[in-house]
Amino acid sequence: MDLRPDLCYIYSMNHLVSIKDLSLDLIDDIYKLTAQLKANPLEKHLPGKTIAMIFEKPSNRTRVSFEVGMFQLGGHAVSLSEDAIQMGKRESIADVARTLSRYVDGIVIRTFAQEKVEQLAQHATVPVINALSDHTHPCQALADVYTIIEKRDNIKGLKLVFMGDGNNVARSLNELCKKTGIHFVLCCPKGYEMEDCEISYKPEEAVRGADVIYTDVWTSMGQEKESKKRLKDFAKFQVNEKLVSIARANCNSPVPVPLVMHCLPAHRNEEITDGVIESQNSIVFDQAENRLHVQKAVMVKLMGAR
Ligand code: CP
Ligand code: NVA
Repeated sequence: MDLRPDLCYIYSMNHLVSIKDLSLDLIDDIYKLTAQLKANPLEKHLPGKTIAMIFEKPSNRTRVSFEVGMFQLGGHAVSLSEDAIQMGKRESIADVARTLSRYVDGIVIRTFAQEKVEQLAQHATVPVINALSDHTHPCQALADVYTIIEKRDNIKGLKLVFMGDGNNVARSLNELCKKTGIHFVLCCPKGYEMEDCEISYKPEEAVRGADVIYTDVWTSMGQEKESKKRLKDFAKFQVNEKLVSIARANCNSPVPVPLVMHCLPAHRNEEITDGVIESQNSIVFDQAENRLHVQKAVMVKLMGAR
């Protein structure tokens, strides 16, 4: 398997903790298999295999797509709520990892701290897949770039403007854009930047020439107490009809430009207007669907050869 050599000694297994774990070759293999599974959704690549899914935050897309995906692949998914497993409280993360590894072939985890995902990965002897932490959301990014590839054959040099918080979704997307040659720009209010990317504080300037405009909620899960301040801070960063028309004015493509993306769930008329999310530029439900196909390919690549 093509883990980055510098990560191989950290983990004894092949995990998807962050996009940084994936080589370009492996991403390419995942995408080839994604296309195959999208065309043939009932191919049984994981008969008799089981995953445990630990969700310490709410989820619609991630949870359902992993469970349905595993079923379609011929395997089974066991759902564990935070209350049921109480990782780190009822027993240590290491002991949860070691015990689950004796029962299942993979562990999917959605939690708050990235360190919790990392600890689970360090102690598990089966692959661990990060289904979102406060820091990263690699499965989302993999589905997003796959969706862009479906819409635009050649993605090298495309300009993607992420309008919003320099948070988990933006971070993983930036990491994958870097690997795949997409020009990523984060446009956010001061104080919401993230590392390793081009930053703009001016929405109307940032979207000029954008092929893709992406947004996410201004208040992520776990940040609810900051919601009032965030609403105010992000008010000028809404993806609305005016912003989309500025980007479009500078592109001359026969297909809708810019593509408008959102990981969902959306807070309509906060970070994105109803009109834009329902417009022909919007590909948000294609993204949501591709979570299923891409994650199936990830599971087969990580768990299939064992
Ligand atoms: N985009 C995403 O991860 O959606 P859920 O939170 O519903 O899983
Ligand atoms: N940034 C959002 C993404 C939800 C899929 C959150 O963490 O709540």
